[in-house]
Amino acid sequence: MESYHIRGGNRICGEYSVKGSKNAALPILAAALLCDGECEITNAPQISDVDSMKTMLKELGCGITAKSGTLIIDSKHITADTISLERMKEMRSSVFLMGALLGRCGSAVLSQPGGCNIGSRPIDLHLHALRRLGVEICERDNLVICRGRRLKGANINFAFPSVGATENAMMAATAAEGQTVLSNCAREPEIYALQDFLNACGADISGAGSDIIHINGGRPLHGASHKIIPDRIECGTYLVAAAATGGEILVHHAESGHLASILQKLKETGCTVRQESDRIYVKACGRLKALDRLITGPYPRFPTDMQSPFIAMLALAEGESFIEETIFENRFNFTSELIEMGADITIKGNTAIVKGVQKLNGSVVKATDLRGGAALTLAGLMAEGTTIIQNIEHIERGYENFPEALQSLGADIRKNDER
Ligand code: EPZ
Repeated sequence: MESYHIRGGNRICGEYSVKGSKNAALPILAAALLCDGECEITNAPQISDVDSMKTMLKELGCGITAKSGTLIIDSKHITADTISLERMKEMRSSVFLMGALLGRCGSAVLSQPGGCNIGSRPIDLHLHALRRLGVEICERDNLVICRGRRLKGANINFAFPSVGATENAMMAATAAEGQTVLSNCAREPEIYALQDFLNACGADISGAGSDIIHINGGRPLHGASHKIIPDRIECGTYLVAAAATGGEILVHHAESGHLASILQKLKETGCTVRQESDRIYVKACGRLKALDRLITGPYPRFPTDMQSPFIAMLALAEGESFIEETIFENRFNFTSELIEMGADITIKGNTAIVKGVQKLNGSVVKATDLRGGAALTLAGLMAEGTTIIQNIEHIERGYENFPEALQSLGADIRKNDER
């Protein structure tokens, strides 16, 4: 099993170029299935979740060539409509393929994606949207069997602004005759990126980024070129790494408008934060201050994906921080490992109370999910002594060359193969 070995105490200082967004790339790669042609996707992050999506697209009949962050996807001949249980377990974001397969082939068969370590992750909102478009869905034997050869535009209101359900509905609606209106939909930048890509392929979508999206469906889609937007969560993670270790960092190729809520909270901890064009500069100025209130919520509110790195950072802040998680019911699970390292954290319902301590101690800890694992890595950088992070496959799903990048910024970290 591979692990990270970290000797803590070094400051994160230097410059970093943000990679392409995992959460933009995954739905866009799935959406390439809708096109009867070739798509060129550039600036795709080189992470295992993208590798998993590439494997699934190949199993569905796509031809794929990849050269570093550029992917050419030829989806002229789709030969299957089924996503296996193995693939669904490998990556639950395979659920995005449902809308794309229905839009392209009129059918899709997936295993129930099931939950993960951060929550039960139901897909009822996805299925509600697809049924509104005329998809017949049968759920049995742990399978979701979808049939919908003649989709019709519809008005679809989401009970919760689900990112994935919004994206699945957008993809399927491109093939639904007539007008579809999505309301109370997610407003994340990755939704806008998907609209950009689909319109480049000949779709007629407007409103992404607001809570109402209009799709004029029924037109065949062709191939297109698209550059993946910067990853706002990867960017935020490196900014927090510098803040948490008393360092300073200049991040390039960032889209600072996507990080407004994150930068605001970093300022409240006492960091110097400057942004200009595609660069963001953060410098820690002495011991960080605690945050009276940090509440996660749908974009543009503070992103749930940054909750774990912030809790790690606040473990050494001066004072008591209150962090409320409103999106995933189990996203504090990594804190038990942080407590092992000496953090003072109390969980009350969906609020974590973090009392800043003087130091964290290196320990052997296990990553249980992507962002929790990144948070434990930051804690290892902050701690005295050596920390070993196990189960790093969770982390490498979403961070490209994570240990190498941290090393280049001054961290004493290496990847070990502990057989
Ligand atoms: C996307 O997940 C992201 N993943 C997540 O990032 C991110 O945390 C999440 O959006 C929220 O921003 C990708 O884009 C690949 P949701 P998604 O549907 O689409 C409930 C990371 O670390 N819900 O917006 O699955 C759900 O249980 C990952 O990069 C239903 O109840 O999130 C959750 O409580 C983690 N029924 C809430 O909505 C549904 O049908 C938000 O989920 C769908 C969702």
